[in-house]
Amino acid sequence: MPLPPLFANLRLPVIASPLFIISCPELVIAQCKAGVVGSFPSLNARPISQLDEWLHQITEELAVHNRANPDRPAAPFAVNQIVHKTNNRLDEDMAMCEKWQVPMLITSLGAREDVYNAAHRWGGIVLHDVINNSFARKAIEKGADGLIPVAAGAGGHAGALSPFALMQEIREWFDGLVALSGAIACGKSVLAAQALGADFAYIGSAWIATEEAHADAAYKQAIVDGRADDIVYSSLFTGVHGNYLRSSIVNAGLDPDNLPESDPSKMNFGSGGNAPAKAWKDIWGSGQGIGAVSKIESVAARVDRLEAEYREATANLSANTAPFLT
Ligand SMILES: Cc1cc2nc3c(=O)[nH]c(=O)nc-3n(C[C@H](O)[C@H](O)[C@H](O)COP(=O)(O)O)c2cc1C
Repeated sequence: MPLPPLFANLRLPVIASPLFIISCPELVIAQCKAGVVGSFPSLNARPISQLDEWLHQITEELAVHNRANPDRPAAPFAVNQIVHKTNNRLDEDMAMCEKWQVPMLITSLGAREDVYNAAHRWGGIVLHDVINNSFARKAIEKGADGLIPVAAGAGGHAGALSPFALMQEIREWFDGLVALSGAIACGKSVLAAQALGADFAYIGSAWIATEEAHADAAYKQAIVDGRADDIVYSSLFTGVHGNYLRSSIVNAGLDPDNLPESDPSKMNFGSGGNAPAKAWKDIWGSGQGIGAVSKIESVAARVDRLEAEYREATANLSANTAPFLT
């Protein structure tokens, strides 16, 4: 299926995923200007009046950029709505998205027909993130425009399924928009996501080690230093399974190899759950793909690198597949 016109200005098939605390207007604007979809969780803007200011700033700065660079206009941006029942800001945040005609929403933790319908009324599209095929079916039945399969190894709340299995099952019945998520951090993996049938690669952790990200210097450096072996999968911190940096768990005085299970009835997003240390602030989320991140650099430099890697991978793939396609 051809991509909708909204994505006509993309330089790469990449969506920069929303990151709790870390995604701020500077990061989103830099991502969009560099040619990939930028996004942020609405809950990062606190209080709600700040969401109004952020949407104003992002809309204005991208419009200025587009006027100055008609040959290289910015990619669109997206707002992430946590649609879980514990989010008591959802209605107000949706009203703000309507006010600013946000082009795309990313919904997580629940499929909500009313949210999809509201976005469609102002012409927005909605991608919903899922960790398995049955949640995927539910979201599409309720009216989501596309899916974000969150495979094993993703940063933050992550699934446990292989991206191969997840993509194959979803593409058996769904031919709409799909953004594959989980441990994607280099151009080769972006191409691999497309080979699996995804329209986009959905990249999170790699943006943490950028100059524009709103994260502690130590967190950025831990992403640079970390590799797949340094990632721990646990439900302790928010009540939902997710991937976190081992060093941050040790620094919080916990043993990463002997973490207790959480109590799901105390599910709590964004404020620490039932663990002694605060998830996201003290316990640092990260996916398994960070071995590809070798330095802290600007978003523009990271996107240049992704593009160079993607071009090289595409050329190598053509050479590698040619002998089998004669
Ligand atoms: C620190 C951190 C914070 C995150 N916060 C959110 C969030 O607020 N909302 C959301 O939908 N996903 C969130 N995610 C998940 C990402 O959007 C995305 O699915 C994931 O980062 C992709 O895997 P990767 O990190 O391996 O690239 C977060 C991930 C990380 C690492």
